[in-house]
Amino acid sequence: MYFSLEVKKRREDFYNMEEELETLKREILDPKTRMIVIKGVRRTGKSSLMRVALNELKTPHIFIDLRLSGPLTPEAIYEYFSMELSKFLEDGLLRRMLSRVRGVEISGLKLEFTEKRMDVLGRILDELGKWAEGRQVVMALDEAQELRILRGFDKILAHIYDYVGGIKIMLAGSEIGLLDKLLGISNPKAPLFGRPFSEINLKKLNWEKAVEFLKMGFEQVNIKVSEDEIQNAVSKLDGIIGWLTFYGHLRAKGDPYALEKAVENGSKMVAEEFNQFLSVRQIARKRYIEVVKTLIKPSTWSEVKRSLRGFANVNDKQVSNYLKELTYYGFVEKRDDLYSISDPLLIEAIRRGYIR
Ligand SMILES: Nc1ncnc2c1ncn2[C@@H]1O[C@H](COP(=O)(O)OP(=O)(O)OP(=O)(O)O)[C@@H](O)[C@H]1O
Ligand SMILES: [Mg+2]
Repeated sequence: MYFSLEVKKRREDFYNMEEELETLKREILDPKTRMIVIKGVRRTGKSSLMRVALNELKTPHIFIDLRLSGPLTPEAIYEYFSMELSKFLEDGLLRRMLSRVRGVEISGLKLEFTEKRMDVLGRILDELGKWAEGRQVVMALDEAQELRILRGFDKILAHIYDYVGGIKIMLAGSEIGLLDKLLGISNPKAPLFGRPFSEINLKKLNWEKAVEFLKMGFEQVNIKVSEDEIQNAVSKLDGIIGWLTFYGHLRAKGDPYALEKAVENGSKMVAEEFNQFLSVRQIARKRYIEVVKTLIKPSTWSEVKRSLRGFANVNDKQVSNYLKELTYYGFVEKRDDLYSISDPLLIEAIRRGYIR
């Protein structure tokens, strides 16, 4: 069913993002590809795409989603790795290989890090890679930019890339600038610098596809929804599949105010994410808000600069920096010379005064 809210794992629940899915599967199978990177604005279906591809190919994998529900701490990440690695313990050979590594303990079907250290994690992955040599295990790291809290993890990634052929790296993230930083794009000092990877950019659905997605979803649950309502929903939610799914889900439950509720709740969610971004930028907070208000209408750098006239001493470098940060975190997109807000519900959140 298209309108279930969880990350999709099965092809039949997954609206055909054919091209992306085929590309991803091809890259997973291609032994020459060492690393795959999936980028896209929030809620465009990155996690679902990865899950469905791995599932379809039945590729052995560990899958770490770093957007944990709880607070993200190094301990929580080690716990996650231990859970995912434990899935492999039924294999006697691997079990013996892993149990030789100092700093972990294996009992029953559980592997535990008794020493939560980067070198221990690195050695465990080395062993996993040796075991997988000739086949391939995929290490999927979802919201990989969050790994920056594990100091030195980028070195491990580079090591795996270069020496551990049995593990293929797959990264996904919505905070594109931060992901690029992890990848060492344009930073020769970064461990992963210069390593080629194949990139998949997950885009929003175009108008026709968004409409088709809703129609097919409603058909699956046997609900008639007028053409007007569907067009209206797409005009409000754009082609962001997460929002369309959310609306469809509410509507399928029979809620006549589904669209308004999806917009209302969705924009509150986005406002929270944006406020989080602002909370660590207290000094420039008001300026950021002014910038996004301006960008309700796509604008050039100069227009943004002009909109900040009311603030004392804003120099060009700062203007560029604000725009860079907003783009880095995926709130803003740049196309040609125009900056714009990537999620219509962020615009809605601003209009509704949820961001102040
Ligand atoms: N191809 C698809 N078909 C049906 N539903 C989908 C599809 N892709 C995503 N969804 C739905 O959209 C929502 C967001 O999907 P998902 O979590 O995979 O996206 P994401 O890009 O990883 O989001 P985030 O940036 O929040 O991590 C979920 O409710 C999911 O069920
Ligand atoms: Mg995701």
